[in-house]
Amino acid sequence: MDNFNFYSPTEFVFGKDRASEAGSYVKKYGGSKVLIHYGGGSAVRSGLIGVVKKSLDEAGIAHCELGGVQPNPRDTLVYKGIEMCRNEGVDLILAVGGGSVIDSSKAIAIGVPYDGDFWDLYCGKAPEKALPVATVLTIAAAGSEGSGNSVITKEDGMLKRGTGSDLMRPRFSIMDPALTRSLPAYQTACGATDIMAHVFERYFTNTKEVEITDRLCESVLLTMVKETPRVIADPDNYDARANIMWAGMVAHNNICGVGRQQDWNSHGLEHELSGLYDVAHGAGLAVIMPSWMEYVHGHNVMRFCQMATRVFGCQMNYEDPESTALEGIHRFRAFLHSIGMPINFAELGAKEEDIPELVRKIGVGTGRRGGFVELGADDITAIYKIAAHASL
Ligand code: NZQ
Ligand code: ZN
Repeated sequence: MDNFNFYSPTEFVFGKDRASEAGSYVKKYGGSKVLIHYGGGSAVRSGLIGVVKKSLDEAGIAHCELGGVQPNPRDTLVYKGIEMCRNEGVDLILAVGGGSVIDSSKAIAIGVPYDGDFWDLYCGKAPEKALPVATVLTIAAAGSEGSGNSVITKEDGMLKRGTGSDLMRPRFSIMDPALTRSLPAYQTACGATDIMAHVFERYFTNTKEVEITDRLCESVLLTMVKETPRVIADPDNYDARANIMWAGMVAHNNICGVGRQQDWNSHGLEHELSGLYDVAHGAGLAVIMPSWMEYVHGHNVMRFCQMATRVFGCQMNYEDPESTALEGIHRFRAFLHSIGMPINFAELGAKEEDIPELVRKIGVGTGRRGGFVELGADDITAIYKIAAHASL
């Protein structure tokens, strides 16, 4: 195991009807003027924004609001949010929504004190200051409620880029699983796929002797394999939704990834897909991740056998371990298909003829990227081609 620091300062406020406590937590973390940031309307329609506002009013906290965050959140709204926070003297941003709303809030939070174009902070410049961010989560997926990451799409050229800093870790995150009941099944499945992908990005590592994090990863994966079909079949199943919601946080606040090298190539390849086609991140991952696995499995066949036997219940074939590894990957793809995810370019709405453009945008040039297996432009092209034609 490698040396590590683990810093996860967020206070998680979990359970039924907790959104009505937003005001008292804002007070606890020193907010006096709050920007309520939300998406395309689901949080308004469900009455959640009303609950949050009432709670802030009761705690005597002033607020303004900015809705309209799109999935794959855009830089254009971030600029608006930065201006609004500066004009209104906002001192805490409360994200009410999913990963897109939270990431947009984080971008505004690092943009307000930055004396320049906030996009610099998504092009390699480290943020040095941030307004505090807090969240009321409405979908189990991105894990942004516990992560120090944010992903924004620059509308001009649809460039999707991420940044990371502990400054962006939320002060508190309210997580009421009941709020996720209104999600369409497709969106629930996209979220489940993203959660599993966050674990796999950490699970496939070259670091040896990481039994504790391997087992933590496997427990999240097993939970998702069990609970996702339950929730798709019975959207009102609170307990299954609760397990999935907590799994989404555990998958991405890095408790499963400490002390080990991580990969993140599938996310890199996927961000180009959701950037170019404006598709859901989880759906893009369903197409990319099993294809990436197929391409790199030869690098460490036994690690893929471990996934196959421990997570997907395959029998180990000691005479032909590769067949076990491939069976595990096949079962993963079949699982994604069974929960309604696309598994190839056509099902996602992507085009094979765009592969050179996707590879150009990922910007690897003649270099290589990634951890478990480093990839160059030819490897990335090959993975996109597998993804274009994948079938069961
Ligand atoms: O906009 P509204 O009307 O709220 O609708 C949203 C949106 O259309 C809807 N939704 C959310 N909660 C709902 C609901 N509909 C009904 N009932 C509810 N309770 O769901 C749609 C998707 O929402 P979004 O926030 O985009 O989903 P998600 O949480 O999957 O976030 C995806 C974004 O997060 C980024 C992705 O790249 C993508 O841009 N990621 C962020 C990460 C991070 N910050 O750590 C890590 C991830 O790997 C990921 O890249
Ligand atoms: Zn993700």
